[in-house]
Amino acid sequence: MTSLYLSCATTTTASRHPFLKPQHVITTHAKPSHPLHQISCSSTTSQNQNDDTKSQSGKVVDRRNVLLGMGGLCGAANLVSNTPAASANPILPPELNKCGTATNWNNGESLDGINCCPPLTTDIIDYKLPPVFRMKIRPSAHRASAEYMYKYNLATDRMKRLPADDPRNFMQQANIHCAYCNGAYDQPGQGTLDIQIHKCWLFFPFHRWYLYFYERILGKLIGDPTFALPFWNWDNPKGMTIPPMFVEDPRSALYDRKRNQKNLRAVVDLGLTDATDTLQVVSNNLTIMHNEMIRGISDPLDFMGARYSEGSDPNPGEGSVERGSHTSIHAWVGDPEQPSGEDLGNFYSAGRDPLFYCHHANVDRMWYLWQRLPNNKLPDKRITDPDYLNASFLFYDENAQLVKVYVRDTFDNRRMGFDYERIDLPWMDYRPPLQAARTKINKVDAPNAKTLFPLKLDRVVRFQVDKTKKGKADEILVLENITVDASKLLKFDVFVNDEDDNPSELDKASYLGTYAQLPHKPRSGTTSNSSSIRLKLTDLYDDIDIGDDDAIVVTLVPRHQGPGVTIGGIKIIENPTKPNPTAAAATDATTTTATSSG
Ligand code: C2O
Repeated sequence: MTSLYLSCATTTTASRHPFLKPQHVITTHAKPSHPLHQISCSSTTSQNQNDDTKSQSGKVVDRRNVLLGMGGLCGAANLVSNTPAASANPILPPELNKCGTATNWNNGESLDGINCCPPLTTDIIDYKLPPVFRMKIRPSAHRASAEYMYKYNLATDRMKRLPADDPRNFMQQANIHCAYCNGAYDQPGQGTLDIQIHKCWLFFPFHRWYLYFYERILGKLIGDPTFALPFWNWDNPKGMTIPPMFVEDPRSALYDRKRNQKNLRAVVDLGLTDATDTLQVVSNNLTIMHNEMIRGISDPLDFMGARYSEGSDPNPGEGSVERGSHTSIHAWVGDPEQPSGEDLGNFYSAGRDPLFYCHHANVDRMWYLWQRLPNNKLPDKRITDPDYLNASFLFYDENAQLVKVYVRDTFDNRRMGFDYERIDLPWMDYRPPLQAARTKINKVDAPNAKTLFPLKLDRVVRFQVDKTKKGKADEILVLENITVDASKLLKFDVFVNDEDDNPSELDKASYLGTYAQLPHKPRSGTTSNSSSIRLKLTDLYDDIDIGDDDAIVVTLVPRHQGPGVTIGGIKIIENPTKPNPTAAAATDATTTTATSSG
């Protein structure tokens, strides 16, 4: 394919390279005076006394009473939100007695009959966050002390030695992920609609609760209530390999044999570009993080994931981190020699690798950091939609008590009793270099999107999309109705007015974003329900100075082999200037107090 552009002076990326310009590594964000150190999240969300606003609906109440054994749950509803109630109900927790076998697909063949159901009990209580006496500080795994690693290893070992039917046993913990992600649970009262906590706004809250109890169980097993999980600091060049404690000793409880042997000591490739130059990989990684956290986000749901409530089809759409760095790490660690990329490379088996919890601690940290970012022009970060706040899950706590937990209790990590070690954030200012204004794109060379969609993405495709407005509009590129073969790892990158077609370089202004998904299997067939993603164009317009053009040229670069993705449509929309209706002022994330949490 010939390039559409005349060559022109390109800005060198060297000046932004963290290894070439050390001052970019030493960012200011770890300074004690920075707001990140002063934020106190004092949530006002009441927790258990406020059941959801829909409890007047007999249907919902009945199901819950069955599930919860008529516990005092159906109090009057008065949710702390002035958001008009949406038309649905929140996702209800699964009915454990109806847990079915989970499924997985391997190259078109169903591997049915995976039993990952938890032990059954009817004794469920509403979980109350205990008072926090001492904050647990989750450490960066690469910086953890020998003493810490010893404790972590010991705790994990004890977890693995618990009786197999103890819900706190390691395999039982791993199965939580399998059951919630591979179709073992139906939405109560919704026929065969799966419960799926990925690819939607439940992604961050669900995994926060999941780690919360996992961490408490580990602490209990070594008699240390302050024990905190480590995070794999893959967003910082110093943490961009698998933390050594997980790979060095095959006898360690943290070791897992089912990992990609080529990557045990390699620099993590968050773009799955297969770039061979390590400096390029690091630069790509920082660009990706900047994009997922700042540049690509115009609405809280772009970060959190799309709306998902009772009766919704699963997979409405992943947030930026979920579909990007998060998914890439799973795929990059999973063993390609195993039938389905086990362990980390497939949802049903991901939790069987102790590294999963360390990886997800960093995913959770991205949520925590995003809430506190001062510079991404998003004052509204708290979703107040009752269908979000009142969604709930079931977990066994550290005393093997089955508890019901709510999304609304997850917004403030400090109220949940944990915080993160402060580490530099070199991606914060890692914007791609400005590119010189280019000659008007040659429209003849690229077909208009209107003639191409729906599009089967099995090769690099390049086309034009008309803009809604000439001039300085705040715009978003929407890829709609993405249907995927759920049995495969699928990933593609999106570039706009890309001039050099070098797909292993993401550290440039023309890189707009990524779609990726891990293999998992919805119960019905291999095709996942369609999802949509939104990629903010505004900063890119500035970076390559094309705000005044009346069309853009989009290049889609698949990173997977063969077919598997169909994109229903593509369009540019204007960003609504009004605050997002599902979000209200994030007082927690912006309130500074005099007390440093450091
Ligand atoms: Cu539940 Cu990283 O996946």
